[in-house]
Amino acid sequence: MGRVLLGVSSSIAIYKACELVRELRKAGHEVRVVLSPFSERFISRLTFEALSGHKAYVDWEEDPLLHINLPRWSDLFLIAPCSVNTLSKVALGIGDNLLTTCALSHKGALLVAPAGNVEMYKNPAVQENLRRLREREVTVIEPEEGKLLCEEEGQGRLASVGRLLDWVEYALRPKPLRGKKVLITAGATREFIDSVRFISNLSSGAMGFSLARVFRWYGAQVKVVAGFTTAEEPPEVEVLRVTSAQEMREKVMELKDWADIILMNAAVADYRPSTSFLGKLKKEESLSLELVKNPDILLELGQQKGNKVLIGFALEEEEYLIKRGEEKLIRKNLDALVANPLSVMGEKSYRGVLLLRDGRTFPLQAEDKLKSAEALLLTLTKELLKDLLQVHLKPL
Ligand SMILES: Cc1cc2nc3c(=O)[nH]c(=O)nc-3n(C[C@H](O)[C@H](O)[C@H](O)COP(=O)(O)O)c2cc1C
Repeated sequence: MGRVLLGVSSSIAIYKACELVRELRKAGHEVRVVLSPFSERFISRLTFEALSGHKAYVDWEEDPLLHINLPRWSDLFLIAPCSVNTLSKVALGIGDNLLTTCALSHKGALLVAPAGNVEMYKNPAVQENLRRLREREVTVIEPEEGKLLCEEEGQGRLASVGRLLDWVEYALRPKPLRGKKVLITAGATREFIDSVRFISNLSSGAMGFSLARVFRWYGAQVKVVAGFTTAEEPPEVEVLRVTSAQEMREKVMELKDWADIILMNAAVADYRPSTSFLGKLKKEESLSLELVKNPDILLELGQQKGNKVLIGFALEEEEYLIKRGEEKLIRKNLDALVANPLSVMGEKSYRGVLLLRDGRTFPLQAEDKLKSAEALLLTLTKELLKDLLQVHLKPL
């Protein structure tokens, strides 16, 4: 896990930095906080000391080399919230307080998350400074659009804590998948009986969305085709929504040539009603539904696989997990298949087996789907993508 130096400058969004420290620690990172002097007018360093479990700094106090030692200690420097004043000083190389001087001496990844009034943010001088930062490969975590505290509407709201955390994870990973395009399907399809009723399943989309997050962390460009989901969408990833299996097939077929790697994680309904009634079916003594088979998207992709890497997911009864998984892997012409027991659906934790064409199997188990998605990515990279796509996992 990482050592995060968090710079806090004086924006009204500073209260979100408190939650950010907590969430960073929950995710296993060590956090040290440096505040701009004006920030203490908003929240005292004591709050950040209690939350981070370390001394928080506003000036040099007992260590005259703090502006060197804090960045040296850290793996990355995140300034959130970054006031337009601090942003502009960092862009111009001004070091007039501990925070801005740390930014000058910091050699690793620098991330800034601006927050401010929409007019301040749009100011040409600020926009020019943002360009300067981007040119120097500083990651600018764009503020979000919406209603601002000043009652104005527009871009200026500090990125959500979830997005900030995701960027930290991104900055802490090597990028062996840079230049690779990854298509992922997620969630459940809905097959409508009439205008208000449908057949579906328990998939939450959590695994598909976790895969999207971790493939982005390791440098891939990711697109997700998602059915119905209850899990939170992955930040900074394009999510294309569909409803039925037929719509999912159409979208996947449209995108398949774009992708180098396809992970078919969605729980696609095997059947759909042969007719879907417009309006609401009237209640009768009984109702018989005729179901017809949906297209098998994975099978179709396997028939036109070419040199893409194609990875399937299958839900199987525990006792047939490997046997049926292996049979599907061969019949559908896949490079790998992840077989999951039924208990995985809708659950927080994860268990499954990765099966490769050469007969090797790798058990997967983790307390949550994000961790298991990362474990799966690392195993795939080491055991499969290394040979198929010449992808090499080197430390940062
Ligand atoms: C209540 C209040 C809210 C402020 N919110 C913001 C803000 O969201 N973004 C911003 O860039 N400046 C904001 N400012 C202005 C900065 O605090 C001011 O430019 C300050 O000099 C920045 O200093 P620093 O960058 O060293 O923290 C706010 C000021 C006040 C008094």
